[in-house]
This record gives sequence, structure tokens and C-alpha cells, in this order.
Amino acid sequence: MKTKEFKPIKRHNALVQFSREHHFGLLLVWKIREGIKNGIDPERIGRYTLCFFDRELRPHFLEEENFFFGKLPEDDPLVLQALKEHKSISIIIDELSRDNNNMQILMNFASLLEDHIRFEERVLFNHLQNILSNDELRKTVKQQNQKTCNADDEWKDKFWENNKRSGGGSVQKLAAGLTLMISFCFFMGCSTNEKTENNKPEEHETSMVHSEDSSVSLSLNDGRKWKADSITNINVAVIENIVSTSHPETTDEFHAIGIEIQGAVNKLLQDCKMHGPDHEALHHWLEPILETNNKLSESRTMDETKENFGKMRDRILIYHQYFE
Ligand SMILES: [Fe+2]
Ligand SMILES: [Fe+2]
Repeated sequence: MKTKEFKPIKRHNALVQFSREHHFGLLLVWKIREGIKNGIDPERIGRYTLCFFDRELRPHFLEEENFFFGKLPEDDPLVLQALKEHKSISIIIDELSRDNNNMQILMNFASLLEDHIRFEERVLFNHLQNILSNDELRKTVKQQNQKTCNADDEWKDKFWENNKRSGGGSVQKLAAGLTLMISFCFFMGCSTNEKTENNKPEEHETSMVHSEDSSVSLSLNDGRKWKADSITNINVAVIENIVSTSHPETTDEFHAIGIEIQGAVNKLLQDCKMHGPDHEALHHWLEPILETNNKLSESRTMDETKENFGKMRDRILIYHQYFE
């Protein structure tokens, strides 16, 4: 792959929906692993996995192939790799449909899917953006079905919500093994007035946009930790996991991690239902992250890149000193 060194990576609109779907794919990986770890009957996990694949991932694969892969040369090695991985994942899904009570198949599926999404987010999508023209990419936006993932709303057997879950701290641990990467779109909203299709609740927008004083300090709530809701804690665990498990070496790799963080923050903002002082504190924690991530995306030298990444990582990792 040829990437232009030092070029900040922004996800093109045409790929935003696909990145969003990757997030749900990675949540599936997390749910499978949670289920296995908590001793859930593999058959229950298998049923959900098969349903999710049919509803969400199979169409996702087809759209990637139709909208993007077909527009690149047939012998493009990255597209060939992606096609091969689609096939391997489909084969393992066939195995699962014949034997949906098999933990090993589920584990293999989870690994393959995670690796595939990581490859697409970190390598292939940047490659597509480099190769395809703006016009070609723009055309696909119109063709795409604007799907939303509602599999979880309809699915009654939420095996991943194990009764071991007993509060923010344990949710963090439950999510610790999750490697999630999402890059939904742009640096979303918090430091600009831009709105996107993945808009977040107005309260976030207002709070973030008007909190111009990024030096505003994060402090405890009268000596106690602020209370975050459980979905926020899960989404923060995802962000922590990205910075803790990534070992970028080149500036492009640092920038790619920054995009993952942006996507994960977008998700956090979309999901968050917090209000009041706890919510304000959350934003005080978030603002420097958004700011340094923005600087990271514009960093040119390795020193600058590392410095901004380090600041962002340190800010992310203080979360548990202030929130529960
Ligand atoms: Fe794919
Ligand atoms: Fe994909």
C-alpha cells in the first residue's frame, strides 16, 4: 500500500457508514468473547452470531465488494486479501450454521472478524481513499442503504449482559479484551459546529461547543468520583483499550490510531444519556482528548506526533481516577 507520509487520514463520507458497521461487528466479537468467558451455552451465542451475520455482515460484505472492491484492479493485493477474508469468514459461518454449539468455531469466527475489520480500518480503507477518485467515492454514498443496526433491540436473549455485571468497574473489566476500531467520520462536533449524519444529542453539542476554555480542570465531586452511566463506561473501555493495545511506530500508524479514537469518542457521544454535573465532568475529561487528537491528526514530525499521542493517551487513562 502506498500511503502518503505525514498526510492526516480523514475518513471519506462514502466509507463512514461502513466504519460504523465495523463498530457493530466488533461489538459482536466482544459479545461472543464475553459469552464464552462467562460460560454461556455456545448455542445461544451461535444463534445470535448467525442472525447478526445474516442481517448485518453479509450485506456489509456484499456492499463493500460491489461499491468499492469492484472499482479497483482485479489483481490489487489488498482487495484480494479482503475478498479472501470475506470468503474465510463466510466459510466459518457455514460451519457454525451446521454446528452452532461449537465454542471453537465461535472463537475462530471472532478472531477472523476482528482481524478483518482491523485490516479494513487500518489499511484497506485508506488505500481505497488513495486510489478512488472523489467522484467515484461520492457516487457510492447515494447508492448505500442507510442501515441502522437494530439486531440488539429485537434480540431477546442478551447473553452478553451477564449477571456478573454489577456496576461501572466490572463493566470496564468485561470490556477489557475488546479491541475496537471505528472511524465513523470526521472529528465530530465537539470542537467545531459541524453536524454530521451521526449526530449526537444536542446537550453534548451545546456543552462541548461552548466550553471553549479547554484548560478547565477536571476535579472530583467533593472528593468522590463522578458517576458515569454503564454505556459510557463501556465506550470508555473501548477507548482505553485502543490506546493500551496499540503500538504505533510510524506517523501514519499514529494517525490511524487517532482516527480510531475519534470514532470511539463519536460513539460515546451518541450513546451517552448522562445529565447534570456528572455529564459536565465527562466533558471536562473529554475536551483535552479531542483537542490533542486534533493536533495529532495535524502533526508532521515524529516528535510532535508522539508528544500529542502521549498527551491524549495520558488524559484517556486518568478516567478511572475521576469516574465510576
Ligand atoms: Fe470487509
Ligand atoms: Fe468491512
